[in-house]
Amino acid sequence: MTQTNRQWVLKSRPEGMPRRDDFELREQPVPAVTDGHFLVRNLYLSCDPTQRGWMERDTYAPAVAIGDVMRAVSAARVVVSKHPGYREGDLVCGAFGWQDYALSDGSGLFPIFKLPSGTAAPTGLSLFGITGLSAYFGMLDIGAPQAGDGVLVSAAAGSTGSIAAQIAKIRGARVVGIAGGARKCQWLTEEIGLAAAIDYRSENVRGRIVELLPKGCDVYFDNVGGDILEAALGRLARHARVVLCGAISTYNDREAATGPRNYVNLILRSATMRGFLVFDYAARIPEAVADLGRWAAEGKLKDQIDVAEGFESAPDALRRLFTGENLGKQIVHVAD
Ligand SMILES: NC(=O)c1ccc[n+]([C@@H]2O[C@H](COP(=O)([O-])OP(=O)(O)OC[C@H]3O[C@@H](n4cnc5c(N)ncnc54)[C@H](OP(=O)(O)O)[C@@H]3O)[C@@H](O)[C@H]2O)c1
Repeated sequence: MTQTNRQWVLKSRPEGMPRRDDFELREQPVPAVTDGHFLVRNLYLSCDPTQRGWMERDTYAPAVAIGDVMRAVSAARVVVSKHPGYREGDLVCGAFGWQDYALSDGSGLFPIFKLPSGTAAPTGLSLFGITGLSAYFGMLDIGAPQAGDGVLVSAAAGSTGSIAAQIAKIRGARVVGIAGGARKCQWLTEEIGLAAAIDYRSENVRGRIVELLPKGCDVYFDNVGGDILEAALGRLARHARVVLCGAISTYNDREAATGPRNYVNLILRSATMRGFLVFDYAARIPEAVADLGRWAAEGKLKDQIDVAEGFESAPDALRRLFTGENLGKQIVHVAD
C-alpha cells in the first residue's frame, strides 16, 4: 500500500462554473485503522452535478468546509477492516471523497452499500448508483409512464436522463430526448433507440416538441430546469406528470431562478409536478437494483459510462457535466 493519501481539498467557493483552481491537491499519510473502522482504497470517483451545490452552500447536505476533502461518492475496495460488517476485499460504494484512501466507521451522510458479487465497480456509480436509482424511482414512481404515452426527457444523453428515457421505453412509451449537439442526438436515436431527439443548442425546442409529441407530454422528466422546463410545461397533455429530478442549467447561476412563468398550465392540464431526492427511496434500493440489472442483462438498457483517467483529472471531469462533454455517467478512474 502507498503510504501517501492524495486528496483534492476545497480551496475556494466557486463563482459560476467550478474551476480547477477552486481545489488544491494535498498529500497526507494514509490513516491508521482503529477498532470499529475500515479503510477503503478508492477505485472510481463519481462526478455529480450536486457537488457544485456542496461546494457553495448548505443544501440537503451541509456545504463542504474550505480545506476539507471534496465530498464525492466513489466505488472502493476495503483494504483493511476492524469493523464486523466489512471484510477485506469487499467492493463498496459510499461518500468516501476525492482521495486515494478513506477511513470509515460505516456511518455517514450517505448510506454505504456493498455491490452485489460480480458487479463491475463503475456500475456501482452508474446503473446502481445515484443516477440509475434516480432515473428508476423518478420515472417509475412519479412519471409512471404507460404504454403509448408521450415522454420527454432532458439531458437525455447524460447518466440519469439516458437511463430514465430507456425505462420509459421499456414501459412502452414513445420517448423523445433533449440533448446538446448532433453527436448526442444521434446516439439517442441510433444507440439507445429513442423515437426522436431534439438538439436544444441548434433547434427550436418549443417547435420541435409540438412536432414530435403532437398530443403533448404525458411525462416530462426534468434534469435541467430553466427554459427547457418552461418549454415542456407549455406542452403538457391532460393529467401529465412532471418529474423534477434536477435543474443543472441553474446550478452555476448567481441569482435565484425566476419562473417558470407558465406554471399555470399545470392547473389548465390537471397536471402534477413533483420533486424528489433519491435518498427518499433508500429502503427500496434492492428492488431497483434487481430490475435495472435484469434489463441491462436482457439488452434492454444500455449503461453508458464516460471514464476520465487519473486522480488528477477529478476537477476537470466534474466540469465536463456543465460543459456537456460527458456522454452517460462521468466517472474518474483512480486505481484498479
Ligand atoms: N433528485 C435527485 O436525487 C438527483 C440525483 C442525481 C442527479 N440528479 C440531477 O439529475 C440531473 C442529471 O445529473 P447526472 O448526474 O445524470 O448528470 P449528466 O446528465 O450525466 O450530466 C449533466 C448533463 O447536463 C447537461 N447540461 C449541462 N448544462 C446544461 C444547460 N445549461 N442546459 C441544458 N443541459 C445542460 C449536459 O448535457 P448536454 O450536452 O445535453 O447539454 C450534461 O451532459 C442533474 O440536474 C442532477 O442534479 C438528481
